[in-house]
Amino acid sequence: MVNLVIDGKNIEAEAGTTILAAARENGIVIPTLCHHESVEPSGACRLCVVEVAKGTRKRIVTSCIYLVEDGIAVDTKSERVLGVRRLVLELLMARCPTSEVIKEMAAELGVAPEKRFRPDKDKGKCVLCRLCVKTCEDVVGASAIGFSFRGKDKIVGPPFVEDSAACIGCGACAYACPTGHIEMALGSGGSERKIWGRTFKMAACSVCGRYFAPEDQLQYISNKTGVPLKDLAVCMSCR
Ligand code: SF4
Ligand code: FES
Repeated sequence: MVNLVIDGKNIEAEAGTTILAAARENGIVIPTLCHHESVEPSGACRLCVVEVAKGTRKRIVTSCIYLVEDGIAVDTKSERVLGVRRLVLELLMARCPTSEVIKEMAAELGVAPEKRFRPDKDKGKCVLCRLCVKTCEDVVGASAIGFSFRGKDKIVGPPFVEDSAACIGCGACAYACPTGHIEMALGSGGSERKIWGRTFKMAACSVCGRYFAPEDQLQYISNKTGVPLKDLAVCMSCR
């Protein structure tokens, strides 16, 4: 076990725990955008920064990837920390001016709505955090999406910005996306799901008749697990 102090509170945490996890276990809130328990943290958004004091040295670190250490004192709300978070949010607001999530986070931290940086009108709401890509790769195992192009032109989506044959329409990427960038919609009375430019036929529950999952997703689960397709034809509520 490791002993540290977070916001003046003495905390004992398991070695290998991140500062973010240790703080959350102790009811201390650190804002995050690109963090999700189901996938390895990437440290992409930098919103979770905190200030760590080790001896006489103080520095800003990314709490979702920085591991607890014996004897450190962590400040999650120092002026320096809040200043970095505000700057991060200003940059994110400029990158994704239509994201309500980012606007709300910025307002909570007192970031002025006037823009210091020129807004980028072409990027939608994507902050390039990789959560969708990692969820598709590590949780679903489909690896249907990734990044295309480089630098300022970098965008997320199916390879070569074409329809992805590997996509099963599960929507896990859309659920994981923290900013609402990924559009997923139902069509034809719920019998279709549209995502990443493709339309998936939805399966109806064999008990209640409600459309509940794309047929491609059920086939994918059946292939992976060996469970016969007919045994997957019942929705969660009817199981
Ligand atoms: S689409 Fe959403 S989850 Fe994917 S990289 Fe962009 S912001 Fe992150
Ligand atoms: S939540 Fe830690 S960098 Fe995004």
